[in-house]
Amino acid sequence: MTALTLSTSGAATLRADALVVGIAKGPKGPVVTAGAEAVDKAFDGKLASVLETLGASGAEGDVTKLPVLSGLKTPLVVAVGLGPVPEKDDAFAAESLRRAAGNAARALHGVKKAGFALPIESVEDAEAIAEGALLGAYSFTAYQDQAGTDDKAAKKDAKLPLGEVALLGAKPRDKAFKAAAERATALAEEINRARDLVNTPPNDLYPESFAAVAQAAAKEHGLKIQVLDEKALAKGNYGGILGVGQGAAHGPRLVKISYTHAKAEKSLAFVGKGITYDSGGISLKPAGHNETMKCDMAGAAAVFAAVVTVARLGLKVNVTGWLALAENMPSGTATRPGDVLRMYSGKTVEVLNTDAEGRLVLADALTRASEENPDAIVDVATLTGAMMMALGNRTFGIMGNDESFRTAIHEIAEEVGEQSWPMPLPSELRKGMNSDTADIANMGERMGGGLVAGLFLQEFVGEDIAWAHLDIAGPAFHEAAPFGYTHKGGTGSSIRTLVKLAERTADGDLG
Ligand code: BES
Ligand code: MN
Ligand code: ZN
Repeated sequence: MTALTLSTSGAATLRADALVVGIAKGPKGPVVTAGAEAVDKAFDGKLASVLETLGASGAEGDVTKLPVLSGLKTPLVVAVGLGPVPEKDDAFAAESLRRAAGNAARALHGVKKAGFALPIESVEDAEAIAEGALLGAYSFTAYQDQAGTDDKAAKKDAKLPLGEVALLGAKPRDKAFKAAAERATALAEEINRARDLVNTPPNDLYPESFAAVAQAAAKEHGLKIQVLDEKALAKGNYGGILGVGQGAAHGPRLVKISYTHAKAEKSLAFVGKGITYDSGGISLKPAGHNETMKCDMAGAAAVFAAVVTVARLGLKVNVTGWLALAENMPSGTATRPGDVLRMYSGKTVEVLNTDAEGRLVLADALTRASEENPDAIVDVATLTGAMMMALGNRTFGIMGNDESFRTAIHEIAEEVGEQSWPMPLPSELRKGMNSDTADIANMGERMGGGLVAGLFLQEFVGEDIAWAHLDIAGPAFHEAAPFGYTHKGGTGSSIRTLVKLAERTADGDLG
């Protein structure tokens, strides 16, 4: 795990392997930003023109490495682009700082210690830089012990994340800066752990092993946990979770993991879709659509990470995480298209397509979560390809039964640097799920498929409970080239939003 320290020395005196500075994109080339003064001096005040000669512009994504000949105690400078110079008196957006720090950290894989001297005008800026650096300093190498060609040791070293992030420009003895560093550390560690869970191949991560990881974390952080196995699920009539899980050799689980604070006035329930592998079931996905389906538990991983982070931060709010875990596989015992399931709520569902399995496991968990009467419920799920069609690969959709709650989540996501967009639940789409045999079918019209899934879920949420549904199918798993603090594979999408929602709720700023 990468360490974060608030440096007591300045850029000129810091001993490290590298020093990170920011450059902005000005009208006439790159502009050196605050924090880089000592570095500029070491380059005779010509840092901007040296960088321009090397092709740097200051645009987001720009990373330029420079050797240092004299004037500094670091042999290497990494200049990262922050995007356009802000309007007069404005600071850089927190997300620009977060991404630039992430780009720097990714460029520093294999390095032991780097100082980050990016422009800081507030505690929030320092926190964003710390988050970006710790999230950028991530790599998933658990399955590459033997990888490499000629020089195995060197290859492994290069993949190791940056060892230490020394943040410059943050006041190391100031309470607010110290708290920001602690928050960034807890949050980034849990996001990186969620990424590990998503990246772990499905032959090793299945409902039982996921539940075991949650149990270990619960023990470590003093959380209450309850795991329902197949037997307990059958006894409790969890027809949705059992129906999805019954085709797999690995049985399903429902995990309840709770954090409580003695003085809490509000309670939240987070519900996560945890399909550890989605083959589609009998409605089998074709080749080309199943290679990344280990990511289908990203919602449960996000919920798990959020609850643990809330506990580590000791927030004054009660938060319960519900992880609906199952493996969706075809076999002689699998649910068939045409089968009718009796759900935990008592409702019957005709399964027309076994690949629409997420809504089935979530339905049971939503009904169960509603029984405890929380002030609000948020579910997180890689639910539909249709949401990716609508919003692309970086933006999650937000639906819900309460417009102001949906808006609040959208604003919180924006604030923490997660792209999202509010989506409607048009009631006319409900009739497409009418079933000749059961109370409802698990599929409806193809058009607006993400909204259809949301309407299905809504029927299993307790009345009068504010509920929001985040469809993270697009941003949960990154397949394109890495950027900012986002790597290939699991991203940890929505965790920052859930944690901020818990903080707002703890502060009494919501409903
Ligand atoms: N897990 C998938 C959705 C998904 C697709 C997530 C691609 C991430 C990337 C989900 O279970 C699914 O298969 N949904 C179907 C629903 C349809 C059968 C109604 C879909 O979107 O095609
Ligand atoms: Mn599916
Ligand atoms: Zn799925």
